[in-house]
Amino acid sequence: MGFLKIFLIFIFCSFPWPSIQSDFETYIVHVESQISSQSSLTDLESYYLSFLPKSTTTISSSGNEEAASMIYSYHSVMKGFAARLTAAQVKEMEKKRGFVSAQKQRILSLHTTHTPSFLGLQQNIGVWKDSNYGKGVIIGVIDTGILPDHPSFSDIGMPPPPAKWKGVCESNFTNKCNNKLIGARSYQLGNGSPIDDDGHGTHTASTAAGAFVNGANVFGSANGTAAGVAPFAHIAVYKVCNSDGCADTDVLAAMDAAIDDGVDILSISLGGGRSSDFHSNPIALGAYSATERGILVSCSAGNNGPFSGSVGNAAPWILTVGASTHDRKLKATVKIGNGEEFEGESAYQPKISNSTFFTLFDAGRNASDEFETPYCRPGSLTDPAIRGNIVICLAGGGVPGVDKGQAVKDAGGVGMIIINRSYYGVTKSADAHVLPALDISDADGTKILAYMNSTSNPVATITFQGTIIGDENAPIVAAFSSRGPSRASPGILKPDIIGPGVNILAAWPTSVDDNKNTKSTFNIISGTSMSCPHLSGVASLLKSTHPDWSPAAIKSAIMTTADTLNLANSPILNERLLPADIYAIGAGHVNPSRANDPGLIYDTPFEDYVPYLCGLKYTNRQVSNLLQRKVNCSEVKSIPEAQLNYPSFSISGLGSTPQTYTRTVTNVGDATSSYKVEVASPKGVVVEVEPSELNFSELNQKLTYQVTFSKTTNSSNPEVVEGFMKWTSNRHSVRSPIALVLV
Ligand SMILES: *[C@@H]1O[C@H](CO)[C@@H](O)[C@H](O)[C@H]1NC(C)=O
Ligand SMILES: *[C@@H]1O[C@H](CO)[C@@H](O)[C@H](O)[C@H]1NC(C)=O
Ligand SMILES: *[C@@H]1O[C@H](CO)[C@@H](O)[C@H](O)[C@H]1NC(C)=O
Ligand SMILES: *[C@@H]1O[C@H](CO)[C@@H](O)[C@H](O)[C@H]1NC(C)=O
Ligand SMILES: *[C@@H]1O[C@H](CO)[C@@H](O)[C@H](O)[C@H]1NC(C)=O
Ligand SMILES: *[C@@H]1O[C@H](CO)[C@@H](O)[C@H](O)[C@H]1NC(C)=O
Ligand SMILES: *[C@@H]1O[C@H](CO)[C@@H](O)[C@H](O)[C@H]1NC(C)=O
Ligand SMILES: *[C@@H]1O[C@H](CO)[C@@H](O)[C@H](O)[C@H]1NC(C)=O
Ligand SMILES: *[C@@H]1O[C@H](CO)[C@@H](O)[C@H](O)[C@H]1NC(C)=O
Repeated sequence: MGFLKIFLIFIFCSFPWPSIQSDFETYIVHVESQISSQSSLTDLESYYLSFLPKSTTTISSSGNEEAASMIYSYHSVMKGFAARLTAAQVKEMEKKRGFVSAQKQRILSLHTTHTPSFLGLQQNIGVWKDSNYGKGVIIGVIDTGILPDHPSFSDIGMPPPPAKWKGVCESNFTNKCNNKLIGARSYQLGNGSPIDDDGHGTHTASTAAGAFVNGANVFGSANGTAAGVAPFAHIAVYKVCNSDGCADTDVLAAMDAAIDDGVDILSISLGGGRSSDFHSNPIALGAYSATERGILVSCSAGNNGPFSGSVGNAAPWILTVGASTHDRKLKATVKIGNGEEFEGESAYQPKISNSTFFTLFDAGRNASDEFETPYCRPGSLTDPAIRGNIVICLAGGGVPGVDKGQAVKDAGGVGMIIINRSYYGVTKSADAHVLPALDISDADGTKILAYMNSTSNPVATITFQGTIIGDENAPIVAAFSSRGPSRASPGILKPDIIGPGVNILAAWPTSVDDNKNTKSTFNIISGTSMSCPHLSGVASLLKSTHPDWSPAAIKSAIMTTADTLNLANSPILNERLLPADIYAIGAGHVNPSRANDPGLIYDTPFEDYVPYLCGLKYTNRQVSNLLQRKVNCSEVKSIPEAQLNYPSFSISGLGSTPQTYTRTVTNVGDATSSYKVEVASPKGVVVEVEPSELNFSELNQKLTYQVTFSKTTNSSNPEVVEGFMKWTSNRHSVRSPIALVLV
């Protein structure tokens, strides 16, 4: 109980933006494991406490009293603790035996683009045919909490949690839990209650495992059935964030608890931007311990696309998920005076019965402040000429689309056209606007501006076509979806997979329209935060049908069966409508039905991560940090990254010397089966596979093959090329993408 007290005392002190200056900061401290694994938690805590200075109170520069204190004592996730310390105290601690490292607390961010809006229908639900809806599987969601009373978390038809479940629903939350929501804990940034006062966590949890909700609707329209990907899986929430961010100390504490509680899948839609080295990245660290216990960790890739090398959460033991569109549009059209029409999206679809033309007004014209008025920042639209006009605003500038609309409305405007950034390409957001409005591409925006230049009285009208299903180009990679190569480990292809993450409808804690007579509230938002829980749901379905599969096996099944073609049977496109490259889609777009029966799997033996990490040239101490045990890399036969038994290939520097790697596949298809290899060699490279045929005679039989990559061009300019190899039997096809950097 002593720890609980400390925990409560420091809720305010460890808040990342304290109003009172303090010399104390929160650190994550790694220590060596000195105690035998049999020792009790109490022993562990007193060992940790021995690193803290004797409780001398320090008067900080602000005159406030504070003493060094423990915030979290970690046991499953890592050997170490989080504590409030001064820099001098850390220096002192460094001298103690068993000290490994101390790292200041960092704030991670949620992986959502800020496009909150509304609606009431749900996405693709045809994925359950071959699975049993995730029954018996527990998904841990580390996020902003949950709104427990939402019908998406009803437990009608749900069995009680499996016997192995050891989690809890915190204190006064107990009566909120049921057979669907089986656990709820809150950490410091959660401010003491698992209740979601942001929306992000409710949205991600319901996307992964929300129950069926019939008659979900907003404004009485878009009526339909909402459901998560694994509607019969159990949910356990760990609240570590508020809308401002998430402390890494809290994330580690949540993962520590989730491991002990007995979750099967961890869904983590947050991260620290660019990938950092795994030994100092809390999510990579926590995910390693979780994976070791058989928990699959599914993470968002980040929203830093379309820029190269932006992918995060890229450790090979994590399933790294990028985002793409699905085949539904909330269509709106703007028609300009010369007859041209441009398509955009909006979740606000007013029923307008006529199409009156209104004068167009460019908020950016004569703007003295290039960062205020063109972006329609609230308060900046002072020109009286706006009254009665349709106003053109630029996307971004730190102003959410809905706020731009409110500013236009306040200034007397009757409609709004948002011109998106050029690098967003065709990725558009469907916002819940407060007036007729739509988001159009930069290319179309340029045409409208040119029209305005060409005439003294430019006019336009906005019309709404409602929900349109059947976009043949779907899935299209979202502009914001972070791209490979992975900076932390270029020899592992990332992201692993893409899934739906643009304009996703799911549960929301508040009514985003004015309709207060329903508890069944939904919202539509975008981000890799939204694609990650889709994959967490798919992993749950696979875990349910194949309880003996390891996290690496589930991941392999998802990757080797992914789609690389869109609904029109053409290669998946990116936001510029060009074929998406391998660093945008990884293995491709998730295909849950095929993933359920992959034929072969690439199982990564857990012990292989040691030679892999040593191969990354991490120091002994850094590797020991991750593994929570002493490792001496000089005594380990380290391997190149690309030698890890991974379902994809990323060869980061192929020069004149050919490179050879081995892979081992496990037969999970038909006992007697024969596979032949098919190779699409990257340009300028020959890929040889030996043997080219694999004959299996029993289930779970493992066979090994070798792949040799040889360069056939003399060019010495670095160049990225891509291809794939595929094992095909009469019933299965097992595909591995290949990324190669020629040097
Ligand atoms: C219970 O809920 C209230 C309201 O959210 C909160 O103030 C309180 O800290 C919670 N916890 C306990 C143990 O009462
Ligand atoms: C939604 O659909 C359900 C089932 O089809 C129906 O019973 C209900 O009246 C509908 N609600 C609205 C607002 O259209
Ligand atoms: C069309 O709608 C506009 C704006 O609501 C209104 O001013 C106009 O009178 C309407 N025109 C017709 C023909 O109904
Ligand atoms: C603003 O720009 C328009 C067109 O470029 C011009 O006709 C008008 O005089 C300008 N207004 C002011 C106040 O500068
Ligand atoms: C531009 O499109 C992206 C992708 O949907 C979206 O996140 C962003 O909010 C859009 N910009 C605006 C201002 O709507
Ligand atoms: C419109 O005209 C202005 C001034 O003549 C010019 O700077 C601008 O590039 C033009 N815009 C477009 C989209 O043609
Ligand atoms: C690691 O192993 C090498 C080779 O066996 C040895 O020389 C070195 O002392 C070891 N380092 C540690 C810290 O044990
Ligand atoms: C696999 O079996 C086929 C016949 O089913 C045989 O022709 C082939 O040589 C075998 N390949 C290997 C590598 O054993
Ligand atoms: C590559 O270089 C070698 C030796 O410099 C030369 O013999 C060969 O013809 C070159 N091949 C190509 C394709 O240019």
